[in-house]
Amino acid sequence: MDIDIRMLDKNERAPYDLLLLADPSEEAVRDYIARGICYIACYKEQIVGEYVLIKTRPLTMELVNIAVDEKYQGKGIGKKLILHAINKAKQDNIKVLEVGTGNSSIDQLALYQKCGFRITGIDRDFFKIHYNKKIIENGIECTDMIRLSIELPGKEKVEEKKITSKVKNT
Ligand code: COA
Repeated sequence: MDIDIRMLDKNERAPYDLLLLADPSEEAVRDYIARGICYIACYKEQIVGEYVLIKTRPLTMELVNIAVDEKYQGKGIGKKLILHAINKAKQDNIKVLEVGTGNSSIDQLALYQKCGFRITGIDRDFFKIHYNKKIIENGIECTDMIRLSIELPGKEKVEEKKITSKVKNT
């Protein structure tokens, strides 16, 4: 499937239907959009997926709100979006890219780990504290946020490697 991933233009409307698919809290979605950069996946000029990248701390970014239109799920678009986010963070010389998902989000946990993320911690009761409605997925109550991250080599390290190999070759 030939999809094109690009930054959402400032004058374009954010794809709220998709953003809310990833996070039912409108308040959280608006906050992410205001703080981060939204990237969209387009297929035949239609938005079929999106994610938001937020700078959270020096050298650290978080991938939030990733979603693919239900009609297009299971076709590899989610994986493409995650790999795109990893590349964008690398280009910005980011050292750690983080992501968080629910304890009940079994498929998402598999997907992030397939893309190289590793579990770093658990934000216990996150969803109980911050969400009014009970969330049930895969027959499991979503109570805790599983935190995952991937360490990135960054531009500097890549440059360093190039210099070292040049030195070795001379
Ligand atoms: N069961 C098992 N594995 C699954 C799966 C399922 N239902 N759905 C996806 N996967 C696996 C695939 O096996 C694939 O691995 P592979 O490449 O090794 O075969 C991998 O996940 C990637 O699948 P992909 O087709 O790229 O995912 P997608 O386009 O369906 O997007 C989501 C994944 C999570 C973005 C999408 O399902 C979605 O929008 N969900 C609703 C919103 C959401 O939950 N967002 C995340 C919040 S943390």
